[in-house]
Amino acid sequence: MMSNFARIRTYAKVNLTLDVLKKREDGYHELSTVMHTIDLYDELTADFSCEGIKLTADFPLPENSVAYRAACEYSRRTGCGGANISIRANIPSMAGLGGSSADGAGVLRLMQARYGAMTKQELYSLAAELGSDVPFLLRGSTALCRGRGEIIEPLDDMRLSFLIVKPSEGISTKELFSSLKPPYAEPESEKAAAAIRAGSVSGLIDAVSNALSPAAEEKLPIICDIKRRLMGAGAVAAEMSGSGSACFGIFESADKARLAQKQFEDMAFCRACESIKYAE
Ligand code: C5P
Repeated sequence: MMSNFARIRTYAKVNLTLDVLKKREDGYHELSTVMHTIDLYDELTADFSCEGIKLTADFPLPENSVAYRAACEYSRRTGCGGANISIRANIPSMAGLGGSSADGAGVLRLMQARYGAMTKQELYSLAAELGSDVPFLLRGSTALCRGRGEIIEPLDDMRLSFLIVKPSEGISTKELFSSLKPPYAEPESEKAAAAIRAGSVSGLIDAVSNALSPAAEEKLPIICDIKRRLMGAGAVAAEMSGSGSACFGIFESADKARLAQKQFEDMAFCRACESIKYAE
């Protein structure tokens, strides 16, 4: 008999590159971004023996969170049963690490594993409706993502060592995008994707960039300091992830990343992380 209980980890992402190409008619921005999952995760547990959808978390959940909408929509579209889901979070919010999208993707994975009531296409299409990063976080690993971020072209896996650093202040994705003005920074994602396909870490390092950084640094100058400090601590590249405020440094080894971690104890969040590959 199928178990009524399940537990999964849902992982955070970093944007190794993020190009803003143009503002679209629908208000979103056309992006090209290389996303990459790291072993920083939220833990989701589900009890499927109940009726209806219930969601709790060890942090204040926003009303209509991505995770809640994911569970309700899966259930509404398939007519499949209830779920009592709880989230234990490690991924900081308002960080650009995809925390709330990862929770939404995790809920979809839990529901699909239990009920299997959607085709892959239906699942990915629901994911895209829930948020721009949800489809990528459903799949994980490394991909070149286009459109709002929901069109995924898988790339080869890379193993990288990171130090993730976040100041106490967060950034609202919506506010940051709405403060953006062209001209946007020179696109780098195609270059990064070509480097990954060629297995060139140095080519990837050269392309690490984020077109949202200047606007974010204007709001929070500490982001610039963190990037500088990461380079000073031995990173071979340092950039903000997504819409911030978390930054990542890429290090030559996990040991070097862990050693550098000691220099960021004044920060609200600091964690040495590695790449993580999802099994689909
Ligand atoms: O898709 P998601 O709900 O995660 O996006 C949050 C907000 O970020 C959107 O409401 C939009 O203002 C902005 N955004 C954007 N262009 C994107 C992705 C997000 O302008 N490609």
